[in-house]
Amino acid sequence: MQLIQTDYLQGTIVVPPDKSIAHRSIMFGAIADGKTTINNFLRAQDCLSTLHALQTLGVPIYDNGRTITITGVGFNGLKAVNEPINVGNSGTTMRLLLGILAGSSFETTLLGDTSLNKRPMERVMLPLKKMGAVLKGINHSEFPPITVTGQSKLKPIEYHMPVASAQVKSAILFAALQTEGETKIIEKEISRNHTEEMITQFGGKIHTNGKTITICGPQQLKGQEVKIPGDISSAAFFLVAGVIVADSEITLKNVGLNPTRTGIIDVMKKMGATIQFEAIEQVNQSATLIVKTSHLKAVTIEGALIPRLIDELPIIALLATQAEGTTVIKDAQELKVKETNRIDATAQELQKMGAKIKATSDGLIIEGKTALHSANVASHGDHRIGMMLQIAALVSKGNVELDNPEAIAISYPDFFQDIKHLVKRK
Ligand code: S3P
Repeated sequence: MQLIQTDYLQGTIVVPPDKSIAHRSIMFGAIADGKTTINNFLRAQDCLSTLHALQTLGVPIYDNGRTITITGVGFNGLKAVNEPINVGNSGTTMRLLLGILAGSSFETTLLGDTSLNKRPMERVMLPLKKMGAVLKGINHSEFPPITVTGQSKLKPIEYHMPVASAQVKSAILFAALQTEGETKIIEKEISRNHTEEMITQFGGKIHTNGKTITICGPQQLKGQEVKIPGDISSAAFFLVAGVIVADSEITLKNVGLNPTRTGIIDVMKKMGATIQFEAIEQVNQSATLIVKTSHLKAVTIEGALIPRLIDELPIIALLATQAEGTTVIKDAQELKVKETNRIDATAQELQKMGAKIKATSDGLIIEGKTALHSANVASHGDHRIGMMLQIAALVSKGNVELDNPEAIAISYPDFFQDIKHLVKRK
């Protein structure tokens, strides 16, 4: 597909609903008692994988488009299925569901697409096995299909996480809700806390003190009304587009601003980006953001900041190609085990467009400021690489052809429509 080009960007878009919160709202609705209503559900392939998986496990979920109603069945109400459940490209579905199923005494097999079937699962299998569940990967490996046989008497654990991962933390929390006693999780770095927030929202008890989380089981949660804010990880593509495309100004409505997710805003401000906040909603943790073309300078991105912007690193790498100086991204080895190896894919594809970008063992080194040019590029089947390349095309001279743009529907089905809405000719 030929990517869209522009002279400048102007206009307003409403950011699509948060993917992490959408997954979790279906899961909490399923395992709670009573009715849950989800408003502003994200109708993207990944979240539909979660919805279909829980329907397959016997949860009554009524799909009315952007509004979803669930009659919760409690942890004990899930039903055994004979066929493997296919969760497509969604790592969040697979890892979190393993935590839920760790307490159901029947056997379930979860499989994914070719990308997900290559992603590491040992990180969730290990703590869940310590809690008493039986988990097996294909051919005794850590890779999906994964078969989980839960255990109705799960044991609480104290667990020092070897990787900073909200997916692993969440799987342990779902299992911990089904144990008898106190589970303590010590995070390597603080990662997104949507699961912890939702446990509280659904009437449960959980305590966080810095990197230490304590939770006691068993707990029975109660159905709620959930309103999903916009996804800062989707907004990120437009935040960057607005500052790197000349003569632009974009308004992004309903951007979720949970502090465990706002690393990109901290980085952009440090680089010199003009970002204005309006209509700030404290309860819903969201705001309207206005971005304008800005003069940018290089920064170093490392340490505790990495989990707060992990999914934004490909688009931040593009941003760095348009900043003065050398940007260094380190401590980001987790990027190698995302939907694709995002360190290699980002470097390879931006190099094709003329960027001075080098992959390292744990990140990227980017020299700016470079003019980008025409190229044939590939999404590697990864939604975030595909979207980053469309934004790169907006600042490049000449045509950019993208292979496999379909991957973008994993998280942002209306992405190209929103781009077209903002594109302006002089
Ligand atoms: C997610 C956590 C992150 C992130 C992913 C969504 C979540 O993964 O990259 O897109 O919803 O918990 P890790 O927890 O593996 O870092």
